[in-house]
Amino acid sequence: MLLRDQVALITGSGRGIGRAMAQLFAGEGASVFLTARTQAELVATTEEISGRGGRAHYALADLAFEMDCTRIVSEAHARFGKIDILVNNAGHYGPVVPVEEYPLAEFDKVIAVHLRAAFLLSKLVLPEMYARSCGVILNISSLSAKAAFPWGSAYAAAKAGMLGLTRITAAEAARKGVRVNAICPGPVTETRMSKELGNTLATKLGMSPKEQLAGFLSTILQGRGQTAEEVARAALFLCSNQSSAITGQSINVDGGAAFF
Ligand SMILES: NC(=O)c1ccc[n+]([C@@H]2O[C@H](COP(=O)([O-])OP(=O)(O)OC[C@H]3O[C@@H](n4cnc5c(N)ncnc54)[C@H](OP(=O)(O)O)[C@@H]3O)[C@@H](O)[C@H]2O)c1
Repeated sequence: MLLRDQVALITGSGRGIGRAMAQLFAGEGASVFLTARTQAELVATTEEISGRGGRAHYALADLAFEMDCTRIVSEAHARFGKIDILVNNAGHYGPVVPVEEYPLAEFDKVIAVHLRAAFLLSKLVLPEMYARSCGVILNISSLSAKAAFPWGSAYAAAKAGMLGLTRITAAEAARKGVRVNAICPGPVTETRMSKELGNTLATKLGMSPKEQLAGFLSTILQGRGQTAEEVARAALFLCSNQSSAITGQSINVDGGAAFF
């Protein structure tokens, strides 16, 4: 087991990529603390993990709010006593509109959930990781941080910001035993976010969702999207000692779409 005796706080873990990471990490021996806004999804994922003999607990939180970020860290401590691994995964795409039409309040919300929450949660867990001289932070960024897709300015800015945050935190933490990395997934077509975005783009482009998706996937070397499970496996590698010499990096899990 790669994560025996580890405690992982995984945000946005009721569904999608976060759920896949929670399941995989729990199967590798970690106690997982889940969080999101939708109780039914958190209950279902927690029960799935417990049903397979894993240890899981959840707390409801809207990570756009500082108070909720602080509270989930306290609740994870109250339940499992420590946090060894933080995965900043929660987020939504936001409006699919050009910069000149993008509502400022929506821009702020996207930045808050992806970038500000990743910063706040890192700030909250780093002192205990430094005290133990070990720990891992993983930021789930995106291909959008490295490519140029129109109509998602806040999302791309937040995801690119997460890569800067990853490098700086890694630089500060490296000699204190803590590693900080990022994953940039390509299109994980099974998730709600990906499906909703595909439908919106198809409508805007005047084509069917199937045509829109096929056009996008044809630009990827492997010619297909990625699965939540494939992203989770890369996350497991980066959160385990298997990647003990890797820090400050962003790993593309995109089937061959970005090359830096
Ligand atoms: N799918 C893709 O193609 C793709 C590609 C690259 C990167 N990513 C990134 O991967 C991560 C997971 O996305 P996904 O594809 O798995 O989408 P998803 O299925 O929609 O999952 C998003 C998760 O984030 C939670 N969340 C959203 N807003 C939140 C908030 N304000 N506070 C707390 N939790 C919140 C959602 O739960 P609630 O709604 O219940 O709060 C849900 O659990 C995101 O950061 C996304 O940007 C996805």
